[in-house]
Amino acid sequence: MSVPTVVHHNKLSEIYDKATVQVPRYEALLKKFEERYGTKKPDLLIRSPGRVNVIGEHIDYCFFSVLPMAVEADIIMAIQLTDEPVIEVANTNPDFPATKFDLPKDGSPVDIDATKSDWVNYFRCGLVVGQDYLKKNNYPCTKGIKVLIDGNVPTGSGLSSSAAFVVCSTLCTLLANGYTDVSKKLLTQLSTVCEQHVGVNSGGMDQSASIWGLKDHALFVSFLPDLNVVEFGFPETNPKLEFVIANSLVVSNKQETGPVNYNLRVVEVTLGALLMAKKLNLTIKPDGNLQAGTFRGVVDAYFANDKTPYGQDIEDSRKKLDKMIELVDELITQKDGYTTEQIASELEMSVDELKTKFMTKYPVRYEVLKLYRRAYHVFTEAKRVLDFLSLLQNPPADSQKLIADLGNLMNQSQDSQRDYFNNSLPQLDEICSIARENGAAGARITGAGFGGSTVLLTPANKSQQVIDALKKDYYKKHYPKITDEELADALLVSKPGSGTTIIDNLSLE
Ligand code: GLA
Repeated sequence: MSVPTVVHHNKLSEIYDKATVQVPRYEALLKKFEERYGTKKPDLLIRSPGRVNVIGEHIDYCFFSVLPMAVEADIIMAIQLTDEPVIEVANTNPDFPATKFDLPKDGSPVDIDATKSDWVNYFRCGLVVGQDYLKKNNYPCTKGIKVLIDGNVPTGSGLSSSAAFVVCSTLCTLLANGYTDVSKKLLTQLSTVCEQHVGVNSGGMDQSASIWGLKDHALFVSFLPDLNVVEFGFPETNPKLEFVIANSLVVSNKQETGPVNYNLRVVEVTLGALLMAKKLNLTIKPDGNLQAGTFRGVVDAYFANDKTPYGQDIEDSRKKLDKMIELVDELITQKDGYTTEQIASELEMSVDELKTKFMTKYPVRYEVLKLYRRAYHVFTEAKRVLDFLSLLQNPPADSQKLIADLGNLMNQSQDSQRDYFNNSLPQLDEICSIARENGAAGARITGAGFGGSTVLLTPANKSQQVIDALKKDYYKKHYPKITDEELADALLVSKPGSGTTIIDNLSLE
C-alpha cells in the first residue's frame, strides 16, 4: 500500500472552492514578500487549513476516534531559503510583529519561552520538532529560513489556527532542509507534539484534520492502534445537509487559560483512567499526554481477552462503551470531585508524588478534581461519535429523520460539554439555543470550547433563517458595533476543504 504524502498543487482552483476570491490574497502576499525579501518567487509556498470538529470533543487525547473536517480558511507561508543560519519570521498582519533570531551554532534546539504569549513561538516549535526529527535521521539542518505568513483562520476562534500554523512551520523545516516526500502520517505525528512546547498539552485531532482534509469530505480519525484517517462524504439528503459555523467572538486562548481549562482537563481524564484501572485491578499502558494512561487504555485492558478488540466493529465498540459508562458510575464514587489528598490516597501515592508526576510540567489550579464528570463525558462522547458514524454509513431512507438523528447527537454532545466537561460558556449555550429555535437540527461547541466557535447542523432550507436570527439576537445584541465584514467572518456556511498543500510554481493567471 502506498504511503500518502502531502499533496502538491499548482493551481488555486485545485485547493479552494472559490479560487477567484483567493487570487488577490496570494497577489498581496507575494507583493509583500518581494518588498521584504527582494523577490516575487518564494523557494517554497505551503498552506494548511483550520478545522471544524463535527462531533467528538475532548476525547482525542483519551485516544477515542473523532469526526472533524478541514475548513477553507488557512495559514499560508511563503519561504525564502538562505545559507546563513538565521530565521526571520514576518506576518502580513501588523498585529504580529516580525522577529529575527540565530540558529544555535552548536546545533542545539532554539529556545522557547512558554511563559510568554509570543506568536513566533508557534514557528519556533515547528522548528524544534522538525529539526529534532531531521537530526535523528542524519539530515543537516543548517538552512536559514525567511518566511512571510498570511493567515485567515481567526485566532482563539476554536477553529485551530494554531494547528494550521504548526503544521506549516514543521513542514517548512523539513522541506527547507531537503526532506521531501513528507508523509501525511509523519507530519501529523510531528506537528501534534508542537504545541506541548508552548505549554498546551493538546491531542492530535486538529493537526490530523488540517493535514488530511479533503474537499467535500469529513474525516473519521482514529489514534489507535495507529493513526488512521478515513475520508467520507455526507449522504445525499433532501433538503441538503449544511454546517454553519458561528464564532461566539469570546476569545479562547488555550495557552493562557491552560492551568484551569485545557491542561486541567488532561490531568483529570488521566487521573480518572488511573482510578478506574486501580479499582478494576488492571494494568494500563502508560501512554497519552501525561505518559501515564488513558481511558482508552482502560477499555483495552478491561476487554483484553475479548476476541474483538475495541475499534474493530462499531456495534461491538458501542457495547463496550456502554459497559464503561456503567463502570464509571459504579467506580468513581465521589460525584462532586476529589481533593488532591483524596485522589492521592485512592492511587496509593503521596501528594508530592501526585503533584510531581501529573501537575509539574503543565501546572494546574483547581479546588477539586472532577473525575466522574469528565469520565462520563468522555465515554458518552466516544459513543456518540460511533452513533454518528453509523448513521452516516447506514442512513435511514427518510432524510428528515437522518438530519434529526444526527442533530440530536450533536445536541447531546453540547449538553454533555455544558454539564459534565464544563467547557461551555453562557454565550455558546445562547448561540446553540437561538440556532435550534430557528431550525438548526443540532448545535454544539466545536474545538476546545471555553469560548471560540459552535458548529450548527442545518437543513439547507433553514440555514438563512438560522443566520438571520443569530445576527439579530446574538451578534447585534452583544456586539452592537459589529461591521458587516466582521459578521461575515464570524458566521458562515462551511464547506469541508482540502488539507495541507505544497504549492509548486503557482500560476495566478
Ligand atoms: C483543541 C485541541 C484538540 C482537541 C480539542 C477538543 O482543539 O487542540 O486536540 O482536544 O481541543 O476536542
